Amino acid sequence: MSNKAISTRAVSNSSLTGVSSRSKETKKAMRFSELGDTLFEELADRMATRHDYRLLFEHTLKPELFAQIRLAAASYISCVLESPVILSESEMLARIIKARESGNLPNYVGTGLLMPKKEHVLAFNALQKSMAEAFFQLGANDLIDAVDLPINLRMVFGKTSQEVMKIPFTSMKLHSDVWNGVHPDATVVVLPLFGDIDNITIEAGEMPQEMELSHMRLMSDFNDGSHVPMIAKYEDAKMQHGTMYFNDARGLHQTVRRVSEGLRISIDFRFRRKFNEGYRAMIPPEAMKPPVGGKFLKDMSVPYEDWLKVGRETLMIFDETMASAGQSYQKAKDVPLYNRNYRMINMFE
Ligand SMILES: [Fe+2]
Repeated sequence: MSNKAISTRAVSNSSLTGVSSRSKETKKAMRFSELGDTLFEELADRMATRHDYRLLFEHTLKPELFAQIRLAAASYISCVLESPVILSESEMLARIIKARESGNLPNYVGTGLLMPKKEHVLAFNALQKSMAEAFFQLGANDLIDAVDLPINLRMVFGKTSQEVMKIPFTSMKLHSDVWNGVHPDATVVVLPLFGDIDNITIEAGEMPQEMELSHMRLMSDFNDGSHVPMIAKYEDAKMQHGTMYFNDARGLHQTVRRVSEGLRISIDFRFRRKFNEGYRAMIPPEAMKPPVGGKFLKDMSVPYEDWLKVGRETLMIFDETMASAGQSYQKAKDVPLYNRNYRMINMFE
């Protein structure tokens, strides 16, 4: 055999090895994606009132349950605005915009959260409790492992600036929540409550299935994932008040603003399910190791049974006051993504 023939065979052998290891990886990636889909479908079978997309399902709340959550949220927001009465939706939105523009909303942090402070302990615990009561009625209690505490009360304003695109993890950039610290097996829940959800909304979709496993990892900026294409866009999933949206953490999404005024207010939180150990084990631990100096979401989850007790048997106590939040707000150059800013007390001990 000539030298040329040998080297040709060597090349073709090594490229064959390359092909087979690539196809092995693709097979593994597809196994991960399909297992994820099966687990997500099981949740949807129990909880969804509508399931049109692979990584997204909906649950439209019974009107009385939604009314209860809205009332609790309005009560909390009115408390933040120092109103002695619960404000109407339009009054509340107008006062929030005014407070933000005049710099009088120190508990509103850059990532969009309206953080509870000492003055809001009771109102916020009541909001947490009303959300838990609605979630408990969805019919998947035996599948739920751990849930974020507290829930996030998020306000997204129409008015923004291009400056926000410099923030590594701004939701204006297309992303998977995993990239800044959400567990790959988590489900993200969003419930729009008030304001302009038609024009200040979230658009969701999915990446190619074979890219999911290799992109379940921390990044230092959502831009690190800008090469990941959204191949299916969930065009008809228009968000509405009173419907909970359940998005698998593998999904891609971004905040979209079609107006430059107004705001929307929504609740969001994440949960992890039980009986998915094999799926969790497919994520290499090093993929979720934070790069040095990176700022990532802290794990805010507590066991589901503890989550359900808040406002009934236990209370979250926020020790920081609005005044001290105002002072640290002035000083802070960096806004934390989230702090576990509460301690728990037992109400009856
Ligand atoms: Fe997100």
